[in-house]
Amino acid sequence: MSFNKWKKTVDEGDTIMISLGKQSIMTILVESSKTLQTKFGAFPHKEFIGQKFGTKIFSKNRKGWVFLLHPSPELWTVSLPHRTQILYSTDISLIVMELELKPGSIVVESGTGSGSLSHAILRSIKPSGHLYTFDFHLQRVDKAREEFMQHGLENFVTCKCADACADGFSLEDKADAVFLDLPSPWDAIPHAIKTMKKSGGRLCSFSPCIEQVQRTCDVLRQFRFCEIKTVECLVRALNVKTIPVPEANLGSLDFSNIDDEKPTDSKRLKQNEEEIQSQLPHIPQFASTKEPYIEDNQIASTDESRIKVARCANVTGVNSLGMVTKLTAKSKSRHCNVLTCKGNKEMPGHTGFLTFASLYPS
Ligand SMILES: C[S@@+](CC[C@H](N)C(=O)[O-])C[C@H]1O[C@@H](n2cnc3c(N)ncnc32)[C@H](O)[C@@H]1O
Repeated sequence: MSFNKWKKTVDEGDTIMISLGKQSIMTILVESSKTLQTKFGAFPHKEFIGQKFGTKIFSKNRKGWVFLLHPSPELWTVSLPHRTQILYSTDISLIVMELELKPGSIVVESGTGSGSLSHAILRSIKPSGHLYTFDFHLQRVDKAREEFMQHGLENFVTCKCADACADGFSLEDKADAVFLDLPSPWDAIPHAIKTMKKSGGRLCSFSPCIEQVQRTCDVLRQFRFCEIKTVECLVRALNVKTIPVPEANLGSLDFSNIDDEKPTDSKRLKQNEEEIQSQLPHIPQFASTKEPYIEDNQIASTDESRIKVARCANVTGVNSLGMVTKLTAKSKSRHCNVLTCKGNKEMPGHTGFLTFASLYPS
């Protein structure tokens, strides 16, 4: 029952998440007769019962441990049994926001797939909303229905086996929002418009290929959808690290606390300056050195704050991400440690394009 309401302790029959370490989460149904076998040892389920969520449990041979985690849609997404491709939390978060989901919303979804998105939708629309989810694959529908039941969500969702493109949704003037994750979403759009409330609503279609997006947008326009936009949602992680860079002539900066051997040769000074410029391409020219009032890693987002940053003692500039770079301590001769931060050149994680559209009263 624990997807429905927050609870403190684990009971028999609960679906819970087990953390086996960073990036390794598994979902289990707690049954006192069973034992969980992992690379860290064996964990009899009966030892989980009555424990608080968050507890660290040691294996029988005490060589390893796991944490008992409360279920959430995000943990379900990373641990569910895959029956299909699924949507991940990055896209899901945007979908929930753009579809304007809230308690009480009525949502129509197709296809159900592995139920990854469905769980997030349900959290947003409970307790007064309802999700109607359609898939033409009977076994997937049955499995999803069984999981919703195990998770205590059956009162908030109806699973139906139907072809969304051929048969539509058999619901009229009902939905605040429609979500399509289908190979040919354009065929489902005439049905989507019928199922949406006459007062209007929001639609989202997920497609991995841009050709599918183009075709979907054409049909959305034909069916008087407006505010059509397509986005790709990528996560860009920032790597923060301290790198040694050669000392440079930075005008009136105060080097006294980091420098015991100032370069004298003007040619070398120029070379150093060029080197530091090439490593930190957005270093501004400094006006004067005043009391520092910008912290390490502080983001300088406005022109005014950039000017303030440039006046701080030991600040070398602002990198391409708007992050202050600062001389911190001496590392090797004629080098200073500079805290810097970069995004990865490659951004993994393209799963698809999300096309959003609005429908207004006709
Ligand atoms: C990629 S999966 C959906 C994954 C789901 N969004 C999730 O997050 O778990 C696509 C599903 O659509 C179903 N499907 C494909 N065409 C369909 C159609 N015309 N009508 C209903 N379901 C369809 C497939 O059976 C499959 O389960």
